[in-house]
Amino acid sequence: MGFRTKQVHAGVEPDPTTGAILTPIYQSTTFVQESVDSYMGKGYSYSRAGNPTVRALEEKLIALEGGSDATAYSSGMAATVAVFLGLLEAGDHVVIADVVYGGTYRFADQFLTKFGVEVDFVDAANIDAVRAAIMPNTAMVFTETPANPTLKVTDLAAVSSICGEAGVLHVSDNTFLTPYFQRPFELGTDIVIHSTTKFLEGHNATIGGVVVVKDAEHQEKIAFARIAAGLVMSPMVAWLTLQGIKTLSVRMDSQSASAMTVAEFLQKHDAVDYVNYPGLAEHPQHQLSQTQASGFGAMVGFEVHGGAEAGKKLMNAVELWSLAENLGSVESLITHPVTMTHAAVPRDERMAAGITDGLVRLSVGLEDVEDLIEDLDSALRRI
Ligand SMILES: Cc1ncc(COP(=O)(O)O)c(C=O)c1O
Repeated sequence: MGFRTKQVHAGVEPDPTTGAILTPIYQSTTFVQESVDSYMGKGYSYSRAGNPTVRALEEKLIALEGGSDATAYSSGMAATVAVFLGLLEAGDHVVIADVVYGGTYRFADQFLTKFGVEVDFVDAANIDAVRAAIMPNTAMVFTETPANPTLKVTDLAAVSSICGEAGVLHVSDNTFLTPYFQRPFELGTDIVIHSTTKFLEGHNATIGGVVVVKDAEHQEKIAFARIAAGLVMSPMVAWLTLQGIKTLSVRMDSQSASAMTVAEFLQKHDAVDYVNYPGLAEHPQHQLSQTQASGFGAMVGFEVHGGAEAGKKLMNAVELWSLAENLGSVESLITHPVTMTHAAVPRDERMAAGITDGLVRLSVGLEDVEDLIEDLDSALRRI
């Protein structure tokens, strides 16, 4: 079955009692038992442990990523935290890519270390650096590609092979490209994480996350962390995400094509210093992006001449682009990572990883690309 068919149909059956084509929102805390002895008789007990609407979403993601099981969460961060809680223990060492979503950095830096897990942030685009960072107690390598916000690309197959040789788990955040453009399991990754808040749901309507696994033992440990910590997705969020995913490929194709046009426009603009977009031939990992993914995505990073001050003026001057955190929605968004999404990353580490003070991040939406460019052009003239 092709991806587009799966994005519409996987995980969803007409409701057996009413024939409703959409999975109902099972807005129920608890599920009645037939007897004391038939605990979980129909497969559900309490919605912190599992819920039929949430399960439909999990099944859709299993089909789209090509995993064996999945768990859905109250946010992308809750998904990441469940993986850490379920699979790490005090004394373990974790290698995390030096460019990841700022919240992932913050949790690793401030909480994993607090509970006795050693953390090293390493340039995951440098395969030798990843190999050199593996220690006898390394339990996990965590990557995100393309990375938020610099769009640095990690070679997932190369990192997976280093992890395989060392007996270390490779966990990858696939939020930016989604399974439509990139399927990390096919490149050897062990566990895939998503913030469903972004492209999967796609309409700025929900906060959610999902973890997809290949291995039943990982599923058991991660699902146990979810129920123990209460990190679950709500049925309403699952339902909205189920509907959003049905148009994923159409949105990704359109938004990525527009991102390419916007990146090319910026690259030629006199006011622009540099542009980061994996679709541009000048991107250092353009070739790699072409081999490991079938699209370049809808995220673009750039800096204007005049650095941070000029960047701020631009972000205040745009009208059609919304100055907001979040990404992956049908609305085009403009973000200043340093004061917004990556404020938790210390300046020296940020600068070393290329998250410069003047970096502007765009999430290209579904509007007419001509209008998006006209708005950017007019703002660039006024800085
Ligand atoms: C790549 C990536 N992963 C994870 C997250 C966290 O997701 P959430 O905001 O749903 O907790 C984000 C949020 O921006 C992100 O960009």
